[in-house]
Amino acid sequence: MGSQAEQRVGIVTGASSGMGLALTRHFIGKGWKIAMFDINDKVGNELVQELGPATSFHKVDVASYDSQAAGFLSVFEQHGRIDALLANAGIVDRSSLYILGHRANQVEDIPPAPDTLCTDVDFKGVLYGTQLAVHFMRHNPPALGGGAGEAAGNDQVKGRIVCTASVAGIVPHPSYPEYNGAKAGVVTFIRGVAGVLKVKEQIHINCVCPGIVATSIIPPEMVAAVQPEYMTAVDTVVRGYEEFLDEKDQRFGVVVEASVDEVLEVSEGRLANGKASEPAVTVWDPLFKMLHGEGSGLKNAIP
Ligand SMILES: NC(=O)c1ccc[n+]([C@@H]2O[C@H](COP(=O)([O-])OP(=O)(O)OC[C@H]3O[C@@H](n4cnc5c(N)ncnc54)[C@H](O)[C@@H]3O)[C@@H](O)[C@H]2O)c1
Repeated sequence: MGSQAEQRVGIVTGASSGMGLALTRHFIGKGWKIAMFDINDKVGNELVQELGPATSFHKVDVASYDSQAAGFLSVFEQHGRIDALLANAGIVDRSSLYILGHRANQVEDIPPAPDTLCTDVDFKGVLYGTQLAVHFMRHNPPALGGGAGEAAGNDQVKGRIVCTASVAGIVPHPSYPEYNGAKAGVVTFIRGVAGVLKVKEQIHINCVCPGIVATSIIPPEMVAAVQPEYMTAVDTVVRGYEEFLDEKDQRFGVVVEASVDEVLEVSEGRLANGKASEPAVTVWDPLFKMLHGEGSGLKNAIP
């Protein structure tokens, strides 16, 4: 039997292509078992044949809570634990919110509702995955999942969640209005929940924001239009993940930019009215208890 590190079990969403596939290849190379979640089952099943028994494929639509729940359950039943969720699946806008083609519409001729699948996949997919990861990681065997960190004198970690957001979640890209919101949502979401997940669940949540990576989500013409020295290597994104998933890593609520060949921490935005606005985003524990059933456990909470 291998070391604890070699027994770690991870779920990679969007694993049939691009970064998810690169993450899968990388972590099985490091001895992990990887459950590949994707809607593309044809490619996913072929990949499992190629990648071997360290992988399994699960046809999962991350935009559906029930679909993700069934995937998580089958992974937990197979391995008895889930050490990490690599919440990576994503798509871009499916319709144009600028409605430029509808300028000639009569006032009562309302343009069709936008297709918000991007929000469902990129943002809701992360919310669903996080809640499910918390549920299943609570059932991880106590001595596993953070063993090396504990041995090194660090707090034990019960599980880790890393999400793929985007640089467009930090500085918006006018071509993808919905995508910007969904990815900014991921960035703010992980920052918002990280402290509570750390103190209550010993789960670390962080996120990686890639620059432009040549995958199938980007049209080849756009890739060709970008100066080669500004393209981000998929290996840089993988490195961002690897650093967060290192058993000794103690960060939570951290956002990194994976850009070209660098992984750099992105500082949190500041409120213009500083100290005066801060109480509006500080936990008041009675409210937290009202909403969530118990106190936050956060040191800076207002009692
Ligand atoms: N490529 C880039 O330049 C870039 C930059 C920043 C962020 N990202 C983000 O990186 C992540 C990975 O994208 P990629 O570039 O590897 O693209 P990709 O298109 O190569 O891979 C995305 C994968 O997600 C899967 N997927 C789509 N909808 C799904 C759903 N509902 N449920 C499960 N799986 C689904 C697809 O089938 C595909 O296999 C995405 O979140 C994307 O937004 C990409």
